[in-house]
Order: sequence, then structure tokens, then C-alpha cells
Amino acid sequence: MSGDATDAGRLWGGRFATGPDVAAWALGVSTSFDRHLWRQDLAGSGAHARELARIGVLDDDELARMLAAIDRCAELFATDRFAFLDTDEDVHGAIERWLVEELGPLGGKLRAGRSRNDQIASDLRLWCREACDGLIGLVGELQTAFVDQAEAHLGWLAPGYTHLQRGQPVLLSHHLLAYVWMLERDAGRLADARDRLDESVLGSGALAGQTLGLDPDAYARHLGFARTAANTMDAVASRDFALEVTSACAILSVTLSRLGEEIVLWASSEFAFAEVGDAFSTGSSIMPQKRNPDVAELVRGKAGRVIGDLMGLLTTVKALPLTYNRDLQEDKEPVFDAVETLRLVLPAITGTVASLRFDRARLEAASVGGFALATDLAEELVLRGVPFREAHEVVGEVVRRAEERGVDLDGLDPAELAELHPALDAGVAVRFDPRQAVARRDAVNATAEASVREQLTAARRVADSHRG
Ligand code: ARG
Repeated sequence: MSGDATDAGRLWGGRFATGPDVAAWALGVSTSFDRHLWRQDLAGSGAHARELARIGVLDDDELARMLAAIDRCAELFATDRFAFLDTDEDVHGAIERWLVEELGPLGGKLRAGRSRNDQIASDLRLWCREACDGLIGLVGELQTAFVDQAEAHLGWLAPGYTHLQRGQPVLLSHHLLAYVWMLERDAGRLADARDRLDESVLGSGALAGQTLGLDPDAYARHLGFARTAANTMDAVASRDFALEVTSACAILSVTLSRLGEEIVLWASSEFAFAEVGDAFSTGSSIMPQKRNPDVAELVRGKAGRVIGDLMGLLTTVKALPLTYNRDLQEDKEPVFDAVETLRLVLPAITGTVASLRFDRARLEAASVGGFALATDLAEELVLRGVPFREAHEVVGEVVRRAEERGVDLDGLDPAELAELHPALDAGVAVRFDPRQAVARRDAVNATAEASVREQLTAARRVADSHRG
């Protein structure tokens, strides 16, 4: 099927005898998603109008009318009253079309010295900068939920796992605070991406700069960018900033998926370490007894989507020659989707974490099960001069015997222990107490209560730094 799309909203056409084919137009239209950039596009347009006035392309009166029209346009967008036309190719074209309707020929002056190539690169940077700030704030809220839970449960024992097998007892708070530091690196990746993308690119024109005397640094000042891009070709061609933001989102979503999985496990009747609050649980349409941790599952599942966003974007940018290529229009949806997914996920998982009610008895009973104090017993032998290699063997034998009898380490006869190794005298029994095992691990980053208290203060400081 072919036909002619009308050209009212097109920013080009002079050199063509006919308008674009309907199918070609449909492929290229991007207003369905780039409309989200209206705020950034209008901010860039305001900065550009000021620069045009400085170089004399707009007089004072024209500048005032232009800025007032830009404000009215922003008002329309903000109140959801900006009407896109089928003939608008993208948000830049729609806004220019509207300005021409509003201001007549003056509206057509704004395009001088700029290109959609530098416009879109600027818009997306501004959008990403704000997105990073917002996500970092949301990460701070989740960190706070962990710090609050860690504080409320200080002193509670819990099993620490490797290979999902009980390994050594820890404080529940130590486990919860681990997420604060994981999330802190996620926040750090977003902050790094934000700082690196904080470069102004307007004034680059299509790729080589412009001949009008526009000052690239002036755009940086108007838009609050930290720097001006050093190379106009790089400025319009680069999307590694979008890759970094999406990558930081993907890694964050993976952190959250690990958390989601732990909550699912904890909430199962097999573990039964915690119950998810009613507001973050769902029922079953058939099984009346069910209390499902759907939020945690969805958070786990969303990681696949965000990873997909990153893979798609990497694949789009791969092998593109300098400078701008229309493929780059495909950059926006993955970035928007990754960020918007996390904006949805983070508050939900934050509420879920805050709603967790832990079962002290279950956690404490599990903290010693599975011979979780075997390492401690071996270390006791080390302190008594036994080489660790030998201590490991001996304690392995102790565990084997206990397992045969169906008892824990403290269930073996002291005489039998002493037979296995002379260093295994009655004094080693002190090592069969999980509280003692936790208390001995008193290095500043370990699980003893005093250490965890200090860690908690540091974690609270870190979480607070991202909020508000
Ligand atoms: N819609 C385009 C994009 O998102 C804007 C830039 C178009 N530039 C061009 N020369 N066709 O990338």
C-alpha cells in the first residue's frame, strides 16, 4: 500500500517532489514515545532562543514572545492538552509546528543553527540526568527500609548460607544490611553515569557545529550542564551515556531480583523465616489458603525485561558509523522502559521489605542447624596449635559421626570427641553456642552485634544521603 502523508508537521520536504509514503512515515513517526521529552525539548528551545537573541537573530521583542510561547506550550503539555497531529513526525517537529501556528513566521526562526541531531542528544541527556537523580532517591528509600528492619531486629540470630546450604550463624541485621551496600553500588553506578553524561551538546548543529556564532558553553549554562562536549561529532553520535544508564538499571534490577528471590524463599513454608505484609501479598483465585509473595516475584521477573532493554540498546548502537544515524531513534524506548520499570519496582519492593515480619524462633533454630558451627570448632583447634588442614579433617570426622547418630555437634559424648583428637577436650564445648560464634566475629565489617551496630550507623548515613 502506498499513499502520501501530508506535510504540515514535517521539518523537511523542500527538496522532494512528493511527500513520504504512508508506510515509510508510519515507520519513522516517534511521537508516541518521544513526547516524554517535551520538558527537555522546551528547555533546550528556551536556551536556544536566548542564544539566537544574543547573536541578533531574534530581537528583544521576538525573544520575549518566543519565551512566552514556549511557556504556554509547556503549560499545554503539563496539563495534557498539547494536541499532536498525525503529521507530526517527532516531538521536535510538533513543537515547531505549534510555535509557527502560534507566532507565525517568528516560530520558524527557532530552527536556525540547530538540528534534531543535537536536539535529541541534548533532550535525552537531560532526561537521563533527571532519571538518575530520581532512581538514586528511590534506592535511598529502599536502603532506609533495610536499615529500619536491621535496627528493629538487632540481636536476632539467622542462618547464613552458601550454596543455599546453611553455612554459619549470623545476625539477621547483618544479612539485611548486606543489601544496603549492594544498593549503594547500584546508586553509585547511576551517579557515575549521571556525572559522565552531564555535558551540553546543543550548538553542535547536525554534526560539525554551526556558522552563526552560537556559543556552546552558553547552552551548558542555561541548561545547568557541568561541561560542554569537546567534539560536535561525538556530541551528536554518542549514546554510551544511555547505555550506561540502562546498564546501571539492569544491574540494579538484578540486585532487586536477588532480593525478590530471597523474599520468596523466606515466605515459603519450607523456610518460614518471614511473612510478607498483607498489602504486599496476594491471594489465589482458587486456593483460599494462599498468601503469595507476588510483588517479590514480579520484581524478580522485571529484571528480565530491563536486561532486555539493555541488550536491545547495545545491539542498536553496535557498529553505527559516526555520526547520527536514524537507528538511534530506537534508543529512547529501552531507556524509558528500563527507568520506568524501576520507578515502578523500587517503591513496591521497598514497601515489601518494610512489611516483612520475621519469625525469631524459626530463624534461631535454623541458625545452628546443618552443623553451622563446624568452622568454629575447627578454628578452636587452630587456636590450640592444630594445623587447619588437620583440624578440617578432624572436624569433618566429628560431623560424620554426629550425622550418623542424628545429633548436632553438641550431642556427641565428650569422651568420644577426645578420642578423635587430643585437642578436642571439654573446653571446646563453648564453641557449640551460636551467640558465641557470632560474638567472636567482631571485626568491624563482621557479624558481632557491636560491629553490626557500627555498620548500621554507617548504612543509615549512606541511605540518608540519597533521600530528600
Ligand atoms: N526522532 C529522531 C531521534 O529520535 C530525532 C533526530 C532525527 N534526525 C534526523 N536527522 N532525522 O533520533
